[in-house]
Parts: sequence; structure tokens; C-alpha cells
Amino acid sequence: MSHGNQTQQTRLEQLGAYPFARLKSLLAGHAPKQGLAHIDAGAGEPRLPLPAFVAETVAANLGGLSRYPSTSGNDVLREAIAAWLMRRYGLPQIDAATQVLSANGTREALFAIAHALINPEADIKPWAMMPNPMYQIYLGAAITAGAHPYFMPCTAANGFEPDLDAIPADVWANTALVYVCSPSNPTGWVADHNYFTRLLALADEHDFYIVSDECYSEIYWHEKPVGLLQVAAALGRNDYARCLVMNSLSKRSALPGMRSGLIAGDAALINRFAKLRSYTGPATPLPLQHVAAAAWSDETHVEQHLAIYRQSLQAFFDNYGKGQPPAGSFFIWLPVENDEAFAIAAYEQQAITLLPGSYLSADDHTGSNPGAGYVRVALVDGPDKAAELGRRLRAVSI
Ligand SMILES: Cc1ncc(COP(=O)(O)O)c(C=O)c1O
Repeated sequence: MSHGNQTQQTRLEQLGAYPFARLKSLLAGHAPKQGLAHIDAGAGEPRLPLPAFVAETVAANLGGLSRYPSTSGNDVLREAIAAWLMRRYGLPQIDAATQVLSANGTREALFAIAHALINPEADIKPWAMMPNPMYQIYLGAAITAGAHPYFMPCTAANGFEPDLDAIPADVWANTALVYVCSPSNPTGWVADHNYFTRLLALADEHDFYIVSDECYSEIYWHEKPVGLLQVAAALGRNDYARCLVMNSLSKRSALPGMRSGLIAGDAALINRFAKLRSYTGPATPLPLQHVAAAAWSDETHVEQHLAIYRQSLQAFFDNYGKGQPPAGSFFIWLPVENDEAFAIAAYEQQAITLLPGSYLSADDHTGSNPGAGYVRVALVDGPDKAAELGRRLRAVSI
């Protein structure tokens, strides 16, 4: 990204249009093939049946709508989150009162955290690092919070791992925040123990914070992904210093409309973030906080969802005929010759909506866009649609 002429622009003006707005413009004037049912593989919105406990729990707690909800999350929810984190990651301890917050969906929290952790008044404008391609919220957050975004290229050549060895020393020296996304949207890369260990050592050396977006932690092909707090605890960092993780019920529980997620880690950072949130007030309504507590306390529905995502991935590749499932997430990062041309062709020839990869990436310091040769396909409608997607995408030609 060039910073040359941007002094005239406000931070908001520096943000590009959001990927789905760009997709809408791209497809305007193109018509989907007649006679084929449209398949939306663009948005990462799980479309699975509601778990049974949702309606019951909402009904039992409806009275909560006549109360202001707590932004930080009520005790029931924060304790359910802490208990889940300890079970899932084998943490020796995490304190619900000081190390956990509720998020009104992680999107807002991933955005707001940069505003809590970045000092726009610093003498040297700080860097906020992020994978490239990335969930676009990290980029919007970095820019509006007053940081330079630094794009860590994630390419097939490095297994889509954001390369820690490729960062120049002067960038590390002024880094305030590093976003990690594991499992990754859109590449499906999953961080291992060693990756988080190295990142923690770098955070100590260069004095920055790590925000680990683990929203797809329960959707994986073989091995359960490790989490940042798990690795921190294994290293004896039981205070989770410098670490915050975010996770969401949108993906694991297929409840994207509920707007509920978790924030957990370093008590000092949680405290700072809670102060910002006490002003902005992104609270989840109380009946839904109770549903969220129930969702973090139940793994049966999560295992059922995982089985569906795995069947969907298998069905897609059986029918598409090449490639293999990602290590994590329900996205397929599909190599194509030209991402925009392929997205138009998929729409016109096969009535399929998917996202051009360049809309999820930025031009890096070398001027290249690592998403340009890919499209993102979201498998969110179950195995039958996934099989159909594989069959139809195989027939697309540009
Ligand atoms: C990587 C990643 N992080 C966070 C989110 C936000 O999810 P939510 O706000 O529904 O928790 C998404 C949603 O698509 C995502 O893909």
C-alpha cells in the first residue's frame, strides 16, 4: 500500500469498499444462468438448523429484554466461556471476572481492539501486522486506529503461513499489534505450537500484543487446532501476558445471527478493552447471553456441525476432482487463472456466487496481491449443495 498522497484523506476515506460491495458491483450487469438454482458460496454464513436448546433458552429468559444487558457479559456467560476455554485448551486456570469478556460477535471486537491497543499519538506511527489475504476487519481496524497495516504474505509457496522471518527489523521495532487468524479465513492454514511459540518470543522481544482470531477453531479436517492461550499456558505464561484470543458462536454453533463471541487473555488488556467497551457499549441482549452460555457448555451440537462440514468438504472435492480439504475452516481457497473473470464466469455459467481472492487481499510491499489467483468458496449449506458446487465449478471455463 502506498502512503504517499493519503495525508489529505481521512482514515475512513483510506478504507476501500468492503469485499461484498465490490462483488455486487462486479456482478452488476451479469445474469446468472437461467434454469439453475442459485448457490451462494460467497458469504461465510453457516446455514445449518438451529440447535434445539436455542428456542428453549430464549423463551426461559425473555424477561431479560426489559433490562439493559451488561457489555462485558453476565456472570453466567463469562463463567461458561472460562469453563469452555479450560476444557478445550487444557488451561490450568482463567478467571471469568478479569480475563474474559463477551463480544457482540467477534467482528466488532476485532475492529475495536486495535482502538484500545494502538496509540495513534506515538512519535513513530506504529505497525499493525496481519496475514495477507485476511479477514478485512483487521485492515479497517488498523487504519482507523492510526496504525500502518503491514501485510504478511501467505502464499502456496510457504503453505499459506504468515512468514515471521520475512519481517524487516525496523518494522518489528515499531509493531504494536499482530493479528493471527487460525484456522485462517480464507486459506485454511492452521498455526501450530511452534508458530505461536515463536510469535510469543517475538512479542516479548519487540514489545507488541497478539490478537488471535480463532473463530474457526472447531472446524478442522484432521487435528484439533491449538490455540494461543493453550501454547502460552504450556510455556508457563499463565497470566497470558500480551495475548488476547477471540472466538465466536457464529461458526462453531452456526449462530451468526445471535452476535455472540468471546474475548479472553491478559487481564491488563482485558481491563483496557473493557474501558473502551464501557463507552461504545456493544452488548449482546440478555436472553441471547443465556443462549450463548448454553452453547459454550454443549459440544454435542458442535460435533454434529463438524461432521456436516467434513462431509461437505469431502463431497466438494469428490465432485470437483482435484485439490484437497483445508486443514481448518469451511472455506476452499481455489486456485484460478483470473479471480474476477472466474467469479463472473461462475455466476453466468453456473449461477454460483463466490468471492474473488483479490478482494480479501491487499497489494503488499512488493506490489503484488497474493489473493489475485484465487477465489474463495464457502461450504455453508451442507453436503448436497457442496457436491453440486464441486460439479458445477468443475464445468466453469474462462
Ligand atoms: C476470520 C473471521 N473472524 C471473525 C469473523 C466474525 O464473526 P462474528 O462477528 O460473526 O463472530 C469472521 C466472520 O466471517 C471471520 O471469518
